[in-house]
Amino acid sequence: MVRIGAFLVGLFFAGWLLISFLVGAYAFVTEPPQPTVEHEFHLNPKHVAYSFDGPFGKYDQRQLQRGFQVFKEVCSACHSLKFVAFRDLAALGYNEPEIKAIAKQWAIKTPDVDPKTGEMSTRDPVPADYFPKPFANNVAAAAANNNAIPPDLSLMTKARHHGSAYIYSLITGYRDQQGYKNAKGEELLKAFPDAKTPEGLHFNPYFANLNLAMAPPLTADGQVTYGDGTKPTVDQMAKDVAAFLTWTAEPKLENRRRAGLATIIFLLIATGLAYMAYQNIWADKKKAA
Ligand code: HEC
Repeated sequence: MVRIGAFLVGLFFAGWLLISFLVGAYAFVTEPPQPTVEHEFHLNPKHVAYSFDGPFGKYDQRQLQRGFQVFKEVCSACHSLKFVAFRDLAALGYNEPEIKAIAKQWAIKTPDVDPKTGEMSTRDPVPADYFPKPFANNVAAAAANNNAIPPDLSLMTKARHHGSAYIYSLITGYRDQQGYKNAKGEELLKAFPDAKTPEGLHFNPYFANLNLAMAPPLTADGQVTYGDGTKPTVDQMAKDVAAFLTWTAEPKLENRRRAGLATIIFLLIATGLAYMAYQNIWADKKKAA
C-alpha cells in the first residue's frame, strides 16, 4: 500500500515536470526570444598588449607612474580608490619624500575631527592614509553624476572580464550612436529605433548595456603632461591608467607568479625523487620475479 502511494506521488511529480517542460518548449518554439540590442551591439574588449601579460610578465613601473598620473589628474575627481594608501605608491618607485608630497598636495582632503571642538574638519592626507573619497557620500556622488554613483576603482579590473583590456576599451570606446553599425553591418538605430541613448547618458558599445553615465573622461591628446617623454595620446593615457588600475587590484601579481613557478619546479623535482625512490625500493623484487 505504502509502495503504491510512493509510486503515485513520484508519478505526480514526474508528470508535473514533463508537462512544464513541454509547455516551455512549446513557448520557445512559437515565441522565440527576441534579440536584444545589448546582444546584437555589445562589443568584447579590444586586444591590448601589456608588459604584465603571460606567466612571466612584470609591471612596467614607468607605465604605472604614468597611469597614476592620469588617475590623479582626471579620474580621481569622481572615483575613489579606497583600498589603496599613499604609502603603497612605493611599489611604483616613488621614494618617501615624494610620497609625502603627493599626499600633502592631493586635491581632496582627508576627513577629520577637530580635536578641540569635536566638529568635522579636513586635513592634508599623510602617507598612511587611504586615498580620500571625492564625494562625502553616495547621495552627493549620485547628485553630481546624473544619478549614477562612480564606482570605486581599486578592484575594478578584477570585477570585469578581461579587466585591463576592458577599461582601456571602455575609455577609448565612446562612439556616435547615429549611424553606428555592428560587424554584421546592421545599423543600431534602424534595427532598434527605441534604443536611442537617453538624455544625459553616453553611448559606448563596450559597456554592458551600451549607455553609461560617465562622459568620456579622456577627450584630447595632451590632457596630462607626462614627465618621461611618452606622448600622452588618448590611447596611451587609457592604456596607462588601465595598467595602473590592474596594479591597484593586484599589487602582488609578480610575487604570486614567482611563488607559482617555484611551486611547479619544486613539485617536478619531488616527482622525480619519488619516482627514483620507487625504482630503488622495488629494484630487487622485480629481478626476482
Ligand atoms: C565626471 C566624473 C567621472 C570622471 C572624471 C571619470 N568617471 Fe568613470 N564613472 C563615472 C560614473 C558616473 C560612472 C558610472 C557609470 C554608470 O554606471 O552608468 C563611472 C564608471 C566607470 C567605470 C565602471 C564601468 C562599469 O563597467 O561599470 C570605470 C571602469 C570607470 N568609470 C573608469 C574611469 C577612469 C579610468 C577614469 C579616468 C580616466 C574615469 N572613470 C573618470 C564618472 C566619472
